[in-house]
Parts: sequence; structure tokens; C-alpha cells
Amino acid sequence: MALRCVYTPSTCVLGPKRMLLWMLVLSALAFGACEVLTVVPHGAWAVEAMGCSTPLAWPVAFLVTHHIPGLQCDNQTACTQRLRELQAYHMHNNSWCGLAYNFLVGDDGRVYEGVGWDVQGVHTQGYNNVSLGLTFFGTKEGHSPSPIALSAMEGLVALAVLRGYLSPTYSQPVLVKGENCLAPKQRTSSKRGCPRIIPRSEWEARETHCPMMTPPAKYVIIIQTAGRTCNMSEECHLLVRDVQALLMDRYGSCDTSYNFLVGQDGNIYEGVGWDGQGSHTSGYNDISLGIAFLGTFSGTPPNTAAQEAAQNLIQCAVDKGYLVPDYLLVGQSDVANTLSPGQALYNIIKMWSHYQP
Ligand SMILES: *[C@@H]1O[C@H](CO)[C@@H](O)[C@H](O)[C@H]1NC(C)=O
Ligand SMILES: *[C@@H]1O[C@H](CO)[C@@H](O)[C@H](O)[C@H]1NC(C)=O
Ligand SMILES: *[C@@H]1O[C@H](CO)[C@@H](O)[C@H](O)[C@H]1NC(C)=O
Ligand SMILES: *[C@@H]1O[C@H](CO)[C@@H](O)[C@H](O)[C@H]1NC(C)=O
Repeated sequence: MALRCVYTPSTCVLGPKRMLLWMLVLSALAFGACEVLTVVPHGAWAVEAMGCSTPLAWPVAFLVTHHIPGLQCDNQTACTQRLRELQAYHMHNNSWCGLAYNFLVGDDGRVYEGVGWDVQGVHTQGYNNVSLGLTFFGTKEGHSPSPIALSAMEGLVALAVLRGYLSPTYSQPVLVKGENCLAPKQRTSSKRGCPRIIPRSEWEARETHCPMMTPPAKYVIIIQTAGRTCNMSEECHLLVRDVQALLMDRYGSCDTSYNFLVGQDGNIYEGVGWDGQGSHTSGYNDISLGIAFLGTFSGTPPNTAAQEAAQNLIQCAVDKGYLVPDYLLVGQSDVANTLSPGQALYNIIKMWSHYQP
């Protein structure tokens, strides 16, 4: 009963289309069509009471979607049986407080209540208190959910937004590849693509003396440069030059020390790049990508533009083969005796996928 996602991206349609979906739902509501969503309450299928009770504060900012193939069912009797088995498994084998998800969608097109709207699920470490966890079950191993299940899921997400459980600007976190069915890999990466990386020539880098590294890296290490920050392009160019000069002249470093630097102008600056070896974290330099945010982030984290740029860079690294797909992400303080990346930034990256304390 591992959580696995085996169907093709073409069926993963929710994320990118959610504005359109939202509009469709509003118009569907106007025509009274929304009643097609059948929600089976927990009490109507469960034989065991669940013990989950940690409240969920609405509206949540994240939507996490899963797919559990192999619990085949396409009618309410069979789906009820599968759910009882799944709940028993979660509660007795995994010792969770109940069925892990907020809601589950069967191949019969019905929505089955798990822990519901009010209570936190146990579906995704780091996201349970800030997300709704919705999953498909009831599909045959290797098959996509049925068309009625897909449309029930769309209806459910729309309902969540409409009722204020889910923020209209919700996002779907980038989870381990293949886990998040409704954030299709191809669409997501072609939509976001690789961020623009300001090459060394453009920020007027000095010559590097660093050795090369053999990709792919196995770790991503998140670092703060400490010192001042920047949020405008020219200011960031200058700061990156200053960081390089400081590291080379004062600390005898071979270069900027970092593979990439991230400014609050939302730009990525090339440090030693994809295959240069950084000199940021002893013991990890030849197997990691060191990504340094420009600034000090003990009190306030870097802005959203910088956070997104870094996350896109990481996804880009995987897509281009510079980083193994099952990489681990750590804060520099997890692997070295340092305050970097700063408590506020550390709190953020703990929520990122692949984070490994
Ligand atoms: C429900 O599905 C199960 C398994 O596919 C099947 O054996 C059963 O006959 C179905 N029941 C009804 C009422 O259709
Ligand atoms: C779950 O626990 C039960 C009872 O301890 C055991 O019989 C069963 O094999 C376990 N199931 C799995 C899939 O581990
Ligand atoms: C969610 O949990 C994390 C980690 O325990 C905590 O830092 C964060 O403040 C919580 N967020 C909410 C909205 O409760
Ligand atoms: C850039 O930072 C300065 C100083 O911290 C701040 O006053 C300004 O509003 C910021 N500009 C942008 C575009 O974020």
C-alpha cells in the first residue's frame, strides 16, 4: 500500500488549470450543477472511529494530491470495504490517528470523507498543518483514475476553495517526483522551466581557480552569505562581485565558494556553476550543489521571488541531470557548525521537498 503514482501526466490536469476550473465551477454553480458531487461522510462507511483531532486552520495555502493505485473498487460497497481496510492499515500498522487523508475519491466517482475539513491529516510530512490532502484510491494498479473520479476531484477542489477551506491562490508543493499526481511533471517543468541564470561574464566575475566536480550532485545545501542583501539587479551584480572578492582576497577561496547565489531581485547568479566544485561545506563540496542566498536571514526569510528562483533552480538541476532525482536537501547548519542559512530561511526550507534533517 505504498503511495505511488503510476499514471501518465496527461491525466494530471488540476494544477495549471485551476483558474479555468474555478471559473467553470462558478458557472456550474450558477446553473446548479454542483450537486453532482457525492460526499460520503466518515460515519457512513467507517466501522472504527478515528482519533485524529488536531484542528486545521483555514484557509490552507497548499493542496497535496496523491494517488493510491491497487485498491480497486468501482461501486460504493466495494469502495467502502477498501476504505475500511486502508483505515485499519493506517491506524494499526502505521499507528496513525486515522485515515491519513482529508478526503478520498473512489473510482466510483464518490468522494469519501477521511479526516474531513476540520482536522489535519497524516499524508505529507511538513505539510499536514498547512494543506488539504486529497487522494484517489480505487484504481487498478497501473491505471489512471476513472473520468468520473477525475471530475469529482476537480469538483472537490473547487468546493474547498469556494467554502474557504483552501486559499484561492493555493499552491501544490513540489514533492518527490511522481508523488504529486495533479502537479504534472511535464507541464510543471515546461511552465516553470529553468530560471534565468546570470552568467559570470554578466556580473563581471574574476577568474576561477576551483577544481571541477563530477555531476550529478547528491545534496543541495542551502546557505546564507551573511552580510548585506540586495533586491535590485544592479545592486545584486555588485554584491556578488563583492562576495567573490571577499572570499578570494580575505579567505583565499578559489572563487565565490558557492555553485549559485540567489538575490532578492529573483535572479540566480552563477557561482562556480553546475560542474565547478564549491568550497562552502567541508566534506560535501564534491557531492553537493551549494546554493547561497545573498543576505542574512536569521529574522526575516528571503522574499518569495528568491525562494521560487531557488526552487526552480533545484528542479532544473534534476531535469538537466546535474542533481540526482532522489537528492537530499539540507540547511548548511545541518551538516556544519554554522548559523547559516539563518533561522527564518531554515524554517522555510524545512518545508521543501527532499528536506532531510
Ligand atoms: C461491486 O464491485 C465488486 C468488485 O468489483 C463486485 O464484486 C460487486 O458485485 C459489485 N457490487 C455491485 C452492487 O455492483
Ligand atoms: C498489518 O498488521 C496486521 C496485524 O498486525 C498484520 O497481520 C498485517 O500483515 C499487516 N499488514 C501489512 C501490509 O503489513
Ligand atoms: C505548521 O507546523 C510547523 C512545524 O511544526 C510550524 O512551524 C508552523 O508554524 C505550523 N503552521 C501552522 C499554520 O500551524
Ligand atoms: C528593496 O529593499 C529596500 C531596503 O530594504 C526596500 O526599502 C525596498 O522597498 C525594496 N524594494 C523592493 C522592490 O522590494
